[in-house]
Amino acid sequence: MKNEVRDFFDRYGVKEWNRLEDTTYSKINYLLHMHFIEKHLNKGMKILDAGCGAGRYSIEFAKKGCKVTLFDISEEQLKIAEKKIIDAKVNENIEGIFQGDIRDLSQFEDEQFDVVVCYGAPLSYVLKNRDKAILEFYRVLKKNGLLFVSVNNKWGILKMLLGNKYPDFFSDPEYWHIDKVMKTGDLPKHEKVDHPPRHFFEAEELNNLLIENGFVKTVLGGSPCFSCGNAQSIDELGKDEKALHTILQIEIETYTKPTMVDNGEFLLAKGIKK
Ligand SMILES: C[S@@+](CC[C@H](N)C(=O)[O-])C[C@H]1O[C@@H](n2cnc3c(N)ncnc32)[C@H](O)[C@@H]1O
Repeated sequence: MKNEVRDFFDRYGVKEWNRLEDTTYSKINYLLHMHFIEKHLNKGMKILDAGCGAGRYSIEFAKKGCKVTLFDISEEQLKIAEKKIIDAKVNENIEGIFQGDIRDLSQFEDEQFDVVVCYGAPLSYVLKNRDKAILEFYRVLKKNGLLFVSVNNKWGILKMLLGNKYPDFFSDPEYWHIDKVMKTGDLPKHEKVDHPPRHFFEAEELNNLLIENGFVKTVLGGSPCFSCGNAQSIDELGKDEKALHTILQIEIETYTKPTMVDNGEFLLAKGIKK
């Protein structure tokens, strides 16, 4: 059966793997996502990587000795992940690879995982019944288990697009339905854009989604807050190691500040299952 998101990521192929290492800006994004989760990871911990794509984070978790289960809607992404797992020689820490939709985790029993990760915006592609995905994450987590998600941020995306300087983007706001995006966060299907419809979140909205579905002690982050919209400068200035180090220090110091979290291309959130 046709599924627009699955078909898109099947076509997207290995570009998904490259996404987090293409530019200095993307590497900062990756480092912040890892910084957000790293201190919670322990050897032997069972992790479900829900919407794992080509497995970039799964492999990193497996290298740290965690026992990782990969899950994604796209068969092609999972095939790439399988190859990358072999290349990285982390097979012994991979517990399984499953295809499916994050709103239906019936392939897993209750309370199986210490951590569920849903990074890189799979939830932004879920336009209906988003609660179902969060409730499924809750169900498969052990008591006191941790959920980590990242979604596309409404204001951060607009800031990023400002930096990309696409001709006519802001002078023709109907083109990208900017008014609708600002009001609802929803970007409908666009005949000239080869991308499925998406939802862009605000910090408060994502926080409420987690809390309303049972998670407690939530913490938010923006990735990247300081660099978002400045990818070109970051790529140029980042050639100097000292400058890159300073930029990273500023990011790490600011990315979980409540006044900053709505500035990032990605919005990070973590919560605990009661
Ligand atoms: C941008 S990629 C991120 C991949 C990976 N988590 C990362 O951050 O590198 C988004 C992934 O979410 C998956 N995805 C989107 N909607 C999904 C859904 N409803 N259920 C499962 N996977 C989904 C896509 O197939 C794609 O591989």
